[in-house]
Amino acid sequence: MDGVAGQPFAIHVEELQDVSPEHVRTLIEIDLQTFAESTFSPYTAAVFLQNGRVFLLKADDLVIGTCVCVRCWDRPAEATILSVGIRPGWRGRGLGQRFVGSVLEKLRSRGMRSVSLLVGGENRRAIKVYEDVGFVRSGFGPSDPQRHGELVLMCARLSDDPVVPLPD
Ligand SMILES: CC(C)(COP(=O)(O)OP(=O)(O)OC[C@H]1O[C@@H](n2cnc3c(N)ncnc32)[C@H](O)[C@@H]1OP(=O)(O)O)[C@@H](O)C(=O)NCCC(=O)NCCS
Repeated sequence: MDGVAGQPFAIHVEELQDVSPEHVRTLIEIDLQTFAESTFSPYTAAVFLQNGRVFLLKADDLVIGTCVCVRCWDRPAEATILSVGIRPGWRGRGLGQRFVGSVLEKLRSRGMRSVSLLVGGENRRAIKVYEDVGFVRSGFGPSDPQRHGELVLMCARLSDDPVVPLPD
């Protein structure tokens, strides 16, 4: 694929296995290029790197996107995508679909049976990407007085096995 300056790049998705100051910085930097409000502090970024699952979208060795996932406390085979962001110059080239599709495959291979996420109802590009990789709208998130749009809850089934909650 051509990069921002026209050179060819090899695009791949990597699952992070470790926490480093560089990964914390990358997570925060891409988040700040992506959302109006920051999702992470250095502390919470380190927690998600340590205890969640963070996937990187890379063009050669350059990190151009991040996806942060956590597991549901009551249904451990259910993952939630907390955030997906691609650096501005790399958007709109089909990479979002490739990235999220690859993350779903990796979650499936780790035994996850379903994935959910919340997305702004006005974020039509993101919703299109999620629908293209198998998410369906399944409800609405909690209303947020800071935002004008509603949050849409979307879910993707990764397996036909029923999702069994943990016993109390
Ligand atoms: C959302 C995001 C990850 C998508 O990645 P991307 O690489 O830009 O998306 P893609 O190029 O793979 O696909 C975009 C699709 O949306 C479509 N699209 C773009 N704008 C659209 C709009 N306003 N309405 C409907 N569809 C739209 C495109 O046509 C494309 O569909 P196609 O492949 O069928 O042509 C990326 O744009 C991003 O980081 N955005 C900012 C952060 C964000 O919104 N994250 C999601 C919320 S958690």
